Amino acid sequence: MALSKINPSKTKSWKKLSAHFDQIKEYHLRTLFDANPERAKKFSLKYGDLFVDFSKNRITDETFELLLELADEVKLREGIAEYFSGENINETEGRAVLHTALRAKKDDSVLVDGENVIPEIVEVRERIKVFSDEVLLGQKKGYTGKTFTDVVNIGIGGSDLGPVMVTEALKFYKNHLNTHFVSNVDGDHVHEILKKLDPETTLFIIVSKSFTTQETLSNALTLKKWFLQHAAEKDVAKHFVAVSTNLEKIDAFGIDKENVFPMWDWVGGRFSLWSAVGLSIALAIGYTHFEELLDGAQNMDSHFKQAPFAENIPVILGLLTVWNNNFFGVETEAIIPYTQYLHRFSAYLQQGIMESNGKSKDRAGNTTSYETGTIIWGETGTNSQHAFFQLIHQGTKLIPTDFIGFKKPLHGDREHHNKLMANFFAQTEALMNGKTEEEVRSELNAQEVSPEKMDALVPFKVFAGNKPTTTLLLDKLTPKSLGSLIALYEHKIFVQGLVWNIFSYDQWGVELGKQLAKNILVDLENSKMGKHDASTLQLLQYFKQ
Ligand code: F6P
Repeated sequence: MALSKINPSKTKSWKKLSAHFDQIKEYHLRTLFDANPERAKKFSLKYGDLFVDFSKNRITDETFELLLELADEVKLREGIAEYFSGENINETEGRAVLHTALRAKKDDSVLVDGENVIPEIVEVRERIKVFSDEVLLGQKKGYTGKTFTDVVNIGIGGSDLGPVMVTEALKFYKNHLNTHFVSNVDGDHVHEILKKLDPETTLFIIVSKSFTTQETLSNALTLKKWFLQHAAEKDVAKHFVAVSTNLEKIDAFGIDKENVFPMWDWVGGRFSLWSAVGLSIALAIGYTHFEELLDGAQNMDSHFKQAPFAENIPVILGLLTVWNNNFFGVETEAIIPYTQYLHRFSAYLQQGIMESNGKSKDRAGNTTSYETGTIIWGETGTNSQHAFFQLIHQGTKLIPTDFIGFKKPLHGDREHHNKLMANFFAQTEALMNGKTEEEVRSELNAQEVSPEKMDALVPFKVFAGNKPTTTLLLDKLTPKSLGSLIALYEHKIFVQGLVWNIFSYDQWGVELGKQLAKNILVDLENSKMGKHDASTLQLLQYFKQ
């Protein structure tokens, strides 16, 4: 079975949503809250230790009902069943999409081409456990007999962003190993990291699903060359590990078969941190914590699979994006975590969301007549308040924002945490309420500002408010809660893609640039120049001078 191919804009519910939008588009959140004292309760959900308040979105009861109707009409329920059961929903690549199987329980069964893949997954999990335990306990040693102190993950895109984001997010749980990430083909990246390494005590993990990615292979070769300036070829086996689906290519790189961790083509790169791609995570925080991360994601999977849509967090958040994107015409969404540990979270989600839903052909191959994937960006609060929040508050663009916060700080500093969270709550309140002219005038009055000055200042001090926000409040940043949070966004991606009738799990758009770069590299390394447009040619010539 394939995913439905329903044009959402032709459904009855979409038409109803359009008419409804015309009626309510000018409603102010203040008025909606005043009109219904139950609104906050009605538009909030709790699952495990995650509390989600989406009441500060510009919706009414009717919007909510119509969005749920839309989900039914585009056959979201059937789509979810296909997603989890290993159907080839990545149609253009002829593959299943089974990152959810990577965190499934041992005795679950998920069939790919009639074969249960769970035993294989469990076997690789066991290998990750044994490997990371041996490194951490000092049983695995480098070529001079010293224990490992540093781990370098070499990968890019999904083979980098997930591991970096999670190791940064869970730094609090980190052990004695230092982890480094080399991704950019910019030699300055790898050479800077090399300065910190000792060949005798460094373990290299080459992560590439395809094992053909230029950036990763170049960085891996540079690191191997550097390593061989200190050690012998036979020592490579002790220091280099690979994670890939392309076993042949790994063989050619000279990595010991024992040090090869498989992955599967039914796991998309941007959803692969739950597989052996997360080996650097297991090393950084220990296997038990890695398993807790998987557990947290598995919890969110169960919720997404089972909860009725009206209580289903990823479904609701996905539908809200559709509402904001396709009716309010918003183009971007900001994700603002109020914890420094999540400083790579929006960068990670940029790949997850934009590589998945940045498509303009529907599942029947037609150009969509409606907007699809939004632009994702963000930084941690409170830093972002002092950088770009001005535009969210008073700019001309409507930017729905997710606020992610935690009830407890990890180091227990309540004083700091209260200040941080006071800002967290203040921002969503300010974005929603804004500040009326009346409020501005009474404030200026209290400051005894002259009437002339007041009249001049008022327009600039008024905040329209009515900016949509969604608040995600968790108990504490743990491997488990992080696992749930990531899985929540993964499923939100699925919901949006399903509604927009696009294929979320391919990424053909990144191929052209890769092909052209190969040709241009030949031009850069040779005296003759290939065929290019006048601008590119001029730039290449200028570069080569
Ligand atoms: O360029 C996009 C991409 O294919 C991503 O989807 C992927 O995560 C990344 O490149 C790295 O690919 P690989 O793991 O095969 O090296």
